[in-house]
Amino acid sequence: MQFKVKNTLVTLVQGDITGQDTVAVVNAANSTLLGGGGVDGAIHRAGGPQILEECKKIRAAKGGCPTGEAVITTGGNLISRYVIHTVGPIWSGGDSGEDQLLASAYRNSLRLAAVYGIKSIAFPSISTGAYGFPTQRAARVAVDTVKKLLEEKNSPEEVRFVLFSQKDFDIYSRAWAEAIGEPSLP
Ligand code: APR
Repeated sequence: MQFKVKNTLVTLVQGDITGQDTVAVVNAANSTLLGGGGVDGAIHRAGGPQILEECKKIRAAKGGCPTGEAVITTGGNLISRYVIHTVGPIWSGGDSGEDQLLASAYRNSLRLAAVYGIKSIAFPSISTGAYGFPTQRAARVAVDTVKKLLEEKNSPEEVRFVLFSQKDFDIYSRAWAEAIGEPSLP
């Protein structure tokens, strides 16, 4: 599924974030940057110890990564050259600024990608696993945030959303179709 937002191709795939060939992949990390399960576990397992080594250096310098912020490390053994680690909000009912924090996670990841001149970036469905954010609502936040940024700034050539399940793929595809109209390619 592909959409066009100004000069950026937005692609949606169902698959594993660790197998993507984008210049950067985004990790759904936690504030300690010391790894975990889900996407975090998969990226550290596939990327190897260099990623954790660099995360520990960031921790030593900055103490970790606050929710909504993003930091960058090597991609280690991944195809991707970089991993951008961002921390999404833990869902607590929707009245504690979760939408804004999730939007910040996408925004700061794209901001970091721009600083490093990264031409293609792959996002997982941030916060919708262990952090319990309802997927429909998270998809709307992701689409609104990313679409607005791609319309405003000179952007990467490709932004890819990598959904682990068919259900999540359908939810994100519908959210993009509602925001943009028909996909440019199925
Ligand atoms: N590739 C793509 N998507 C994946 C993968 C993978 N290999 N593994 C899991 N997912 C999907 C999940 O199905 C979910 O839809 O990524 C989404 C995010 O799930 P989590 O990885 O649990 O991330 P999140 O909800 O942001 O929770 C982050 O979990 O792993 C810990 O250390 C992490 O504490 C942090 C928390």
